[in-house]
Amino acid sequence: MKMNMTPRTIVTGTGHYVPPRVVTNQDLEKLMDTSDEWIVERSGIHERHHVDGGVGTSDLAVEASKRAIADAGIDPATIDFLVAATLSPDHYFPGIGVLIQAKLGLGTIGALDVRNQCSGFIYALSAADQFIRAGTYKRILLVAAEVQSTNLDFSDRGRDMSVLFGDGAGAVILEPSPEDDGRGVLSTHLFSDGRFASHLWMEKPSSKDSPTFQPPFFDEGRFFPKMEGRNVFVNACQRMPESVRAALERNGLTIDDVDHLIPHQANDRISMMVAKGLKIPVEKVIRNIDRFGNTTAASIPIALDEAVKGGRIKRGDLVALTAFGSGYTWASALVRW
Ligand SMILES: CC(C)(COP(=O)(O)OP(=O)(O)OC[C@H]1O[C@@H](n2cnc3c(N)ncnc32)[C@H](O)[C@@H]1OP(=O)(O)O)[C@@H](O)C(=O)NCCC(=O)NCCS
Repeated sequence: MKMNMTPRTIVTGTGHYVPPRVVTNQDLEKLMDTSDEWIVERSGIHERHHVDGGVGTSDLAVEASKRAIADAGIDPATIDFLVAATLSPDHYFPGIGVLIQAKLGLGTIGALDVRNQCSGFIYALSAADQFIRAGTYKRILLVAAEVQSTNLDFSDRGRDMSVLFGDGAGAVILEPSPEDDGRGVLSTHLFSDGRFASHLWMEKPSSKDSPTFQPPFFDEGRFFPKMEGRNVFVNACQRMPESVRAALERNGLTIDDVDHLIPHQANDRISMMVAKGLKIPVEKVIRNIDRFGNTTAASIPIALDEAVKGGRIKRGDLVALTAFGSGYTWASALVRW
């Protein structure tokens, strides 16, 4: 690396893990008034993975992290910072970062928890990228993980949400680029609009309630996540393309320069609308929601790992990431692989 060059952040390892139990649309038909046809037509989802009892988000995160560490071929003791993104932590507090740190037997490194829901991976990537470019850390484990299935309403009341979400984890190892060859994270772009917080949220538990846990809230199902699906759909289709355009503009690039688009796997219809909005050919859009459902923060790193390991993303390719979700928050990143 040249002396005064600001290093770029490169991904030196990827990994993902999903729990072994597959839940098909037919399995869900037995629990609620829904159909395989409705789910596939509205979301593109055929199946998702659910944890079995006793497995927490940090457990999935640890498995994905081990795979990313092995892929990078590094000694875990050399990881000097950890960033963990989830909306479904094992506990209300502390976050999953410290649990992952302990389970992986890492040193007493810093463990940052990111709470930006579906945008969590890109928000976390942005934070990690700043640390690497500033020279603060040299090897960061970034992991995003979710266990949604233990707190979804599988009755008819919750069918709009519970058919969409799945459990899983994805991880990357981030390091400074050893040479100025144009590879790495080109830029990240983060946005929010909290006026829509209640359009996609888990209202309870809330620190506003004293006591926080009250029996009527359980009866009313207010501990389950809720969403105004139409509004989420419309905003997601608008905000993700906007954020990608912001990234292209910042880097003096056009959509034709992009080799792969990895949208947050919220819903395949949304991914198709994002592609249409950006005028990018569908063949360039990486999609795996059919097998995993929406795994929130984990969806982008899971898709990334599959695409890299499957040989679809190659060295030198330009990869655009974009996400939208609860907050609302949305984000994009451009990475020269
Ligand atoms: C949830 C979503 C698939 C619903 O699709 P939609 O075309 O908007 O459907 P609607 O909400 O208008 O619901 C249509 C009907 O299907 C019903 N329905 C909802 N969930 C259902 C299910 N799982 N099975 C069968 N019917 C269902 C609704 O009750 C409604 O019935 P009604 O007309 O009798 O009231 C869609 O709004 C969406 O994708 N939103 C974004 C979701 C998302 O990605 N969230 C995560 C963001 S990160």
